[in-house]
Amino acid sequence: MSSIAVIGAGYVGATTAACLAWLGHDVVCADVDADKVRRLAAGDIPILEDHLEAVAVAGLAAGRLRFTTAVAATAAAAEFVFLCLPTPSGESGEADLSAVVAACGQIAPGLSDGTIVVNKSTMPVGSARRVEKALLAAGAASGRFSVVSNPEFLCEGSAVRGFLEPDRIVLGADDPETAGRVAALYRDVDAPVIVMTPESAEMTKYAANAYLATRLTFVNSIANLCELVGADVVEVTCGMGLDGRIGPRFLQPGPGYGGSCLPKDTAALLHAARSAGFDFELLRSVVVANSRQRERIVEKIEAQAGGSLAGAAVAVWGLTFKAGTDDLRGSPALDIIEVLVVAGAAVRAYDPVAGDAATPGLAGVDVVDDPYLACKGADVLVVLTEWDEFRTLDFDRVRGLMAGAGVVDARNALPGPWLRRLGFTYEGVGRPAGFDSLEVGNDEERQETV
Ligand SMILES: NC(=O)c1ccc[n+]([C@@H]2O[C@H](COP(=O)([O-])OP(=O)(O)OC[C@H]3O[C@@H](n4cnc5c(N)ncnc54)[C@H](O)[C@@H]3O)[C@@H](O)[C@H]2O)c1
Repeated sequence: MSSIAVIGAGYVGATTAACLAWLGHDVVCADVDADKVRRLAAGDIPILEDHLEAVAVAGLAAGRLRFTTAVAATAAAAEFVFLCLPTPSGESGEADLSAVVAACGQIAPGLSDGTIVVNKSTMPVGSARRVEKALLAAGAASGRFSVVSNPEFLCEGSAVRGFLEPDRIVLGADDPETAGRVAALYRDVDAPVIVMTPESAEMTKYAANAYLATRLTFVNSIANLCELVGADVVEVTCGMGLDGRIGPRFLQPGPGYGGSCLPKDTAALLHAARSAGFDFELLRSVVVANSRQRERIVEKIEAQAGGSLAGAAVAVWGLTFKAGTDDLRGSPALDIIEVLVVAGAAVRAYDPVAGDAATPGLAGVDVVDDPYLACKGADVLVVLTEWDEFRTLDFDRVRGLMAGAGVVDARNALPGPWLRRLGFTYEGVGRPAGFDSLEVGNDEERQETV
């Protein structure tokens, strides 16, 4: 059993802390947000994440997991300090490391001899060296600590499973002994551990996310083409995904990737490429095409509203960036709603778990707590998150409540042929106007977005 400090109790930090305690370690998780810490310490998990509450409550009950605001003291008492801090986009797309540098300033003076600082945050190539420098500058003793890059690949909505059953564990370390000590923390996790340089580990995370963004954008482009030539993207991706060289995951078209990771990580990689003098043309095109995908959804809504959004009543189902999470960061739904509102549409929105009038990006939107109420008097219904519950609602009732008959299903989540039979003018993504298959894809796959 090792003593571990986890600095940052957000989506990654809370999951990391709870799962490391589940693996038998003695874990203290520190965050500057006193309210979050108070709730976590009481076993009241402030984020929606499958299994997290059970795993955290087990750790708290066993005394192996604690939460605190005492960042410096927590780090000082630990053999391993995991940094799970935010690295948002800066003004030019670069990763903003100020939270990481600030935390280094807090923990450096008290670090014990032999401490290993583990970067779990997504940070650009060179960041392990930068963290080392920040710690030295803030008073850590030279030669007495090591920094290891251990990027996190979990997906929100299945974070606990992603942590405890990962495809691989990537460790970037300067020496095998340090890597071995961190690898030992994951002894009971059944996954290959790949040891590499810190630079390669840092690049692995960005390359993986940029590839996933590219793949989703590619599928969206195929979907757009399917609409023009009369093919059905659901059938096409089924045929593609069974090719062992391709695989079925991350092949679901939609309103463009979003969330707190893919947009900021593609921007950071593009920034890093520019700084290194490399024109990453492919990734530049991905980012442009992704934002164009949002516009395509707006155009569909506009067409269904009779050619103008001004004065149109639009019902929105789904606000989170994907199903299974309460995370609204980078949500395509918020981007699309903002455009609708600016164009003069009256938007009434419903999401099963998130969003209220105070949510940034929802100014001027009537957020309601009932999917039917959202549809009352609407000209068009738009599905922007693939929540399962939407598929089994009473569409006869929805039809009766709406003023118009337009449905734009940006996630291919609803049974389109059934809706057409009820008199809706249903439109999905990448599906021909008259498709009559009720198949809407595998649930688990549909929900896979980082
Ligand atoms: N969310 C994901 O799905 C995911 C997946 C893989 C990797 N990542 C990466 O992990 C990192 C963290 O992401 P997240 O989604 O958990 O962020 P988050 O915003 O949910 O959590 C960050 C936490 O750090 C705390 N914090 C900020 N400064 C602090 C300080 N000085 N001391 C202590 N706590 C401090 C904040 O209060 C917050 O609770 C990012 O680099 C992200 O790119 C995220």
